[in-house]
Amino acid sequence: MNIILLGAPGAGKGTQAELLVKKLSIPAISTGNMLREAIANGTELGKKAKQFMDEGALVPDELILGIVADRVAQPDCQNGFILDGVPRTLAQAEALEDKGVVIDHVVSIEVDDAEIEGRMTGRRVCGSCGASYHIVANPPKTEGVCDHCGKELIIRKDDKPETVRHRLEVYHASTEVLKDFYGKLGRLRLVNGSQSIEGANEDILKVIGAKE
Ligand code: AP5
Ligand code: MG
Repeated sequence: MNIILLGAPGAGKGTQAELLVKKLSIPAISTGNMLREAIANGTELGKKAKQFMDEGALVPDELILGIVADRVAQPDCQNGFILDGVPRTLAQAEALEDKGVVIDHVVSIEVDDAEIEGRMTGRRVCGSCGASYHIVANPPKTEGVCDHCGKELIIRKDDKPETVRHRLEVYHASTEVLKDFYGKLGRLRLVNGSQSIEGANEDILKVIGAKE
């Protein structure tokens, strides 16, 4: 089963992707995490992406398409995958179609902008594996430490309020149009993201037909 998680910054794509990985036993592919890893490792990709990400702008499509095409071709994606944060432009969605990457369900996690701004101030992420936490809604077992890999939790550089506001503008201007694109193809599933993490997860499993 190939799934896209769509939604504004902070809608819960990363959080839900982590839960779906466990429940569906397929990998999650987060372009945001891949780019942050590239920056941390000082690769060519990281150098090209850094300024766009720090400003809350989109990284150019050609850089994204290269890393996604390579990743979905890996053997562990044979039984399906979860795309978190990609595609985010019409050009990226069309390129995936052209490459023959078949998508079964596009789950749009719906959350109002006002709620998002509040959520981001409490977010902490693992600087190593990218896992996402919230100091109130989804705290780690030990404060400041990742449950999965034991590394330190940090505040993302692009979670400053003014950068979050810009990322929301970018979402509405460039990404939201994908709901129409996938709606016309009959693949769009809307889920209320303004409920508990577990509640949203139950709804996602239902709309993708993984649970009654
Ligand atoms: P990316 O890392 O994808 O960021 P994003 O889309 O802005 O989304 P976030 O990761 O901020 O939010 P999320 O939806 O994953 O929410 P989370 O689960 O963490 O991209 C970053 C940058 O990389 C982009 O700005 C761009 O520069 C570049 N980039 C990446 N992909 C690209 C692409 N395809 N094309 C071009 N550029 C690209 O949850 C947020 C917080 O809320 C957490 O604290 C969480 O614990 C909490 N939370 C989650 N669910 C709930 C709930 N139900 N109730 C209460 N709290 C909740
Ligand atoms: Mg994320």
